[in-house]
Amino acid sequence: MELAAYSYREDEREYFEKFGKQYGVKVRLIKEAPSPENAALAAGCESVSVITTAITAEIIEKWHEAGVRCISTRTIGYEHIDCEKAWELGMTVSNVSYSSGSVADYTVMMILMVIRRIKYIMKRFEAQDCSLFMKRGRELANMTVGVIGTGRIGEHVIKNLSGFGCRVLAYDLYPKESVGRMAEYVDFNTLLGESDVITLHTPATPESQHMICRESIEKMKDGAVIINTARGSLIDTDDLIDALESGKIGAAGLDVIENEMGIYYGDHRYKVIHNRQRAVLNEMPNVLLLPHTAFFTDQAVSDMVEYSIVSCLNTVEGRENPWEIKK
Ligand SMILES: NC(=O)c1ccc[n+]([C@@H]2O[C@H](COP(=O)([O-])OP(=O)(O)OC[C@H]3O[C@@H](n4cnc5c(N)ncnc54)[C@H](O)[C@@H]3O)[C@@H](O)[C@H]2O)c1
Repeated sequence: MELAAYSYREDEREYFEKFGKQYGVKVRLIKEAPSPENAALAAGCESVSVITTAITAEIIEKWHEAGVRCISTRTIGYEHIDCEKAWELGMTVSNVSYSSGSVADYTVMMILMVIRRIKYIMKRFEAQDCSLFMKRGRELANMTVGVIGTGRIGEHVIKNLSGFGCRVLAYDLYPKESVGRMAEYVDFNTLLGESDVITLHTPATPESQHMICRESIEKMKDGAVIINTARGSLIDTDDLIDALESGKIGAAGLDVIENEMGIYYGDHRYKVIHNRQRAVLNEMPNVLLLPHTAFFTDQAVSDMVEYSIVSCLNTVEGRENPWEIKK
């Protein structure tokens, strides 16, 4: 099988070489993100591997004409792919799973950074302000953390949190027994009303869009902290900004933000970034913004490359593909 790996980064090379050889797959490395103009670069490949750039109907049609049958994204989220178009053309779409510790560890790091005011402390320290002014934090053991979405990452976050002695509440459409042994499942409104920290771990779907909005924020404790390492669309950003300005929300940690596509993963030095909400949030001393890097560990990158290759191979060779996204 031959696979065209788009948006390939230099740090992925060792894994494409290693797993390409291990699984007998020829890999065509393409630095650019897919576009209608460069879709022909995949001609002759049965499969393409992509990341979180827009995979539009036009690109998919061109790939189909070029003989591509399988689209794999080296990410967990797949909302950037026009799956309907791919399915209409009889193509397979798949995502990958990877070490949940990558995002889960980062989430706990963000919770701690936010409740200990690390952004503010570091900024002030850079300016030689070593006073204790406004630098007092809170301890997790005295707090209740609400975890929304208890899939692979949410469950791992709960496991990580178990060492901190905090009360953990959980909410998911499909509660799991293993999570029920570590946390208390409650309904959505109870979680909102009783949590000091709320952390989001659901995929971006029409149902989860803006689950954090004016209405849900009103149900939260005054000064609640919101952490989002899932997807930007889960939060209505304007409503979050209003709540941070009024003090209803005490602080936030956001690895993802609405309309981040085209901004995150690019180097924008000396350029104007077209996302005003990001600029407003970045100015706030109690908001920790990070550029969608929660996933980025050596193990996760290795898993992303390996499972993307294996996923395409399963499809092309007619085996069961555990990562296939079905209608
Ligand atoms: N920041 C990053 O770098 C990064 C990296 C990987 C994944 N993510 C995001 O994290 C999300 C979670 O990943 P995962 O591997 O745990 O996924 P998963 O599929 O294992 O778990 C998702 C959980 O969310 C639940 N869920 C879905 N819709 C819901 C809703 N409307 N309300 C309540 N629960 C709902 C599901 O039942 C499931 O238990 C991904 O979808 C992705 O968007 C972000």
